[in-house]
Amino acid sequence: MTVAKRLAPFGVTIFTEMTALAVSNGAINLGQGFPDWEGATFAKQAAAASLARGDADQYPPSGGIPELRRALAGRYTTLLGRPVDPDTEVTVTSGCTEALSACFLGLVDPGDEVVVIEPFYDSYPVGVSLAGASARHVTLRPPHFRLESDQLRAAFSSRTRAVVVNTPHNPTGRVFDRDELSALAALCVEYDVIAICDEVYEEMVYDGEHLRLATFPGMAERTVTLSSVGKTYSLTGWKVGWAVAPPNLTAGLRAAHQYLTFTTPTPVQYGTVAALAAPDSFYAELRSDYRRLRDLLADGLAEVGFDVHRPQGTYFLLAGYVELSDADDRTFARRLVQEAGVAVVPPSVFYHDPIDGRGMLRFAFCKRADVLEEAVSRLRSYQQNRP
Ligand SMILES: Cc1ncc(COP(=O)(O)O)c(C=O)c1O
Repeated sequence: MTVAKRLAPFGVTIFTEMTALAVSNGAINLGQGFPDWEGATFAKQAAAASLARGDADQYPPSGGIPELRRALAGRYTTLLGRPVDPDTEVTVTSGCTEALSACFLGLVDPGDEVVVIEPFYDSYPVGVSLAGASARHVTLRPPHFRLESDQLRAAFSSRTRAVVVNTPHNPTGRVFDRDELSALAALCVEYDVIAICDEVYEEMVYDGEHLRLATFPGMAERTVTLSSVGKTYSLTGWKVGWAVAPPNLTAGLRAAHQYLTFTTPTPVQYGTVAALAAPDSFYAELRSDYRRLRDLLADGLAEVGFDVHRPQGTYFLLAGYVELSDADDRTFARRLVQEAGVAVVPPSVFYHDPIDGRGMLRFAFCKRADVLEEAVSRLRSYQQNRP
């Protein structure tokens, strides 16, 4: 393999590895986080209509089609409690993943430090490395996975350029509370740090309330808020995301975005305009459907003997398995896919020191109830029949 030194340490993503193993073993895939039902019909119809009209055939503007930037500006004006300008403060990207890369490459310099909360979404450390910066880690630890203010303070210094915050948090399911985010905001202000807030699970909150760091005192001028269409509307294949930030930060991330992808396919941008017009009842139903699936999986796993950390948000849960095996998480995950027919993700890949994720597994519950029931039943049989 010929891989640049900047990327060689990261290897193949765990999702590719576990999905391939799931397919070759005919396993139920609770590894990768994509729903096994169809995405929002009203959004798909709007995307299809724009294809049929023929107004989606050519390059859209780099920042996104005006209709989508206006829709996002309207939404975030309400959510952030300040006027958001569609031309200078909203950028449409190819998924939240591209928005993250645009932030790292467009706002962080080589030699800078970026505070990364772990367990992390695996593109964060790669983005930091591609920018030539280094990561300072703050570790969330079981059973509460709290953002501890003394640890945060220890990670900040005059070299800190940015912090990446994901709430609701994958993979712990934490929804950071006001105390945790206030402490973080105060440090950002004190050290003049940019906050890159990944809020892709913003609509999946079952306990607690989703708070936006951009609304904390002193944060509006230093926060980039990111999200995407994938999770909320069950359209992960569309890869439409966005970044909302004040004009100076938007200029930085757009400087990278224009050379990363330049733009995002037009039909799915029109579809996203329709998605954003969903009524409140759509989000309420989404939450209650996911809460049911969360409880189904959490209760089932607990019965099998897992030590379940019931998530406050997202569609993931972490579960300890020390009662079931003393293998490390990668070995146990491989064993489960081969011997139980259930694929999961070993969370040690989400920590800079794999030892921190060792005794847990990550399960995705964005799957139909019958699929989750079958997964639990397979795990129960595996547990009952193991030597
Ligand atoms: C925390 C987090 N951020 C970003 C993404 C990716 O979002 P997108 O598909 O919009 O690139 C994911 C997907 O799993 C995620 O879990």
